[in-house]
Amino acid sequence: MRILITGASGLLGLNLALEAARIRQQAGTADGGQVHQVTGIVNSHPLRTEAFEVITADLLLPGKVEQLLADNKPDWVINCAALALVDACEADPQLAYRLNVELPEKLALYVARGGARLVHLSTDAVFDGKTGNYTEKDQPNPLSVYARTKLAGEQAVAGVNPEALIARVNLFGWSLSGKRSLAEWFFNNLQAGQPLKGFTDVFFCPLLVNDLAHILLNMLETGLTGLYHVVSSDCLSKYDFGMSLARHFSFDQNLITPASVSEGNLLAARSPYLTLSSARLARDLGVSLPTVSSGLDRFYELFQQGYPQYIKGMAYGN
Ligand SMILES: NC(=O)c1ccc[n+]([C@@H]2O[C@H](COP(=O)([O-])OP(=O)(O)OC[C@H]3O[C@@H](n4cnc5c(N)ncnc54)[C@H](OP(=O)(O)O)[C@@H]3O)[C@@H](O)[C@H]2O)c1
Repeated sequence: MRILITGASGLLGLNLALEAARIRQQAGTADGGQVHQVTGIVNSHPLRTEAFEVITADLLLPGKVEQLLADNKPDWVINCAALALVDACEADPQLAYRLNVELPEKLALYVARGGARLVHLSTDAVFDGKTGNYTEKDQPNPLSVYARTKLAGEQAVAGVNPEALIARVNLFGWSLSGKRSLAEWFFNNLQAGQPLKGFTDVFFCPLLVNDLAHILLNMLETGLTGLYHVVSSDCLSKYDFGMSLARHFSFDQNLITPASVSEGNLLAARSPYLTLSSARLARDLGVSLPTVSSGLDRFYELFQQGYPQYIKGMAYGN
């Protein structure tokens, strides 16, 4: 399959591009298996890698999406480009709208016209988090500019491309900057011996980004369409996540103080119980989704294998 991944310098896009390219390498040595040809689009963070083809492009420029799709003729497009920083969306709602609503809508339209399949990434934050354990049938109620634009993006994509796969996710993993995910924030502070606060009143179900990558590819291979919650099979507070990470790395757990999100001085409102049910996906794929603990096992294993340095080594130019 020819896979075009937007946002390939981001936390999800980069790990996804590497996992898809790795499947290709493995398929070269084993019998059968899906052979993927991966192209990643980056914007302000150029990449140097042999693992997949990299194209630098600002997808907001007029004609860029159309040109890339015409040149590349992908079978699958996975849209990981976004303004995904919650407080940055609050500070620049117009840019958030362009990246989180207009861009996905345009991609969805042109991908459908070219006969390819689209996966669009959305977020657990479309819910207000008052109750938790949300299914795909529950009514979203976004609380921030980020969440409102992500929900509007889902609706725009589904409106022009009903066959598109829309995945509401939450994720952690190793990133290009080494600072993009909550897991890296806990890791960096704990490794430096810095005390930090963990919220006991914000719950989530994060998947290791490498696991998420495989699940998204599996969903495409299986031919799923429509809206899915793609999260871990269990959920926990951000405090418990930090404590579990500390245990995995044998860091001092006393460095993490339990705290309330109200003490966090955050610009945008956060939803407390962002726990989602992934039962629909588990049923349709016929698999159990990974647990947070198994994700942290692998996160630690990747650290031992030098994966964070491998990823950071791909950055160049800035
Ligand atoms: N991270 C999370 O915890 C989380 C949680 C829930 C949902 N999600 C969703 O998952 C998806 C991926 O998130 P992420 O955390 O991987 O995002 P990220 O790390 O912030 O990466 C965003 C990507 O978008 C690209 N981009 C931004 N503006 C662009 C433009 N004008 N043209 C082309 N590319 C542009 C960036 O490229 P450059 O950096 O090269 O400019 C970067 O590769 C998003 O849809 C997000 O809403 C993420």
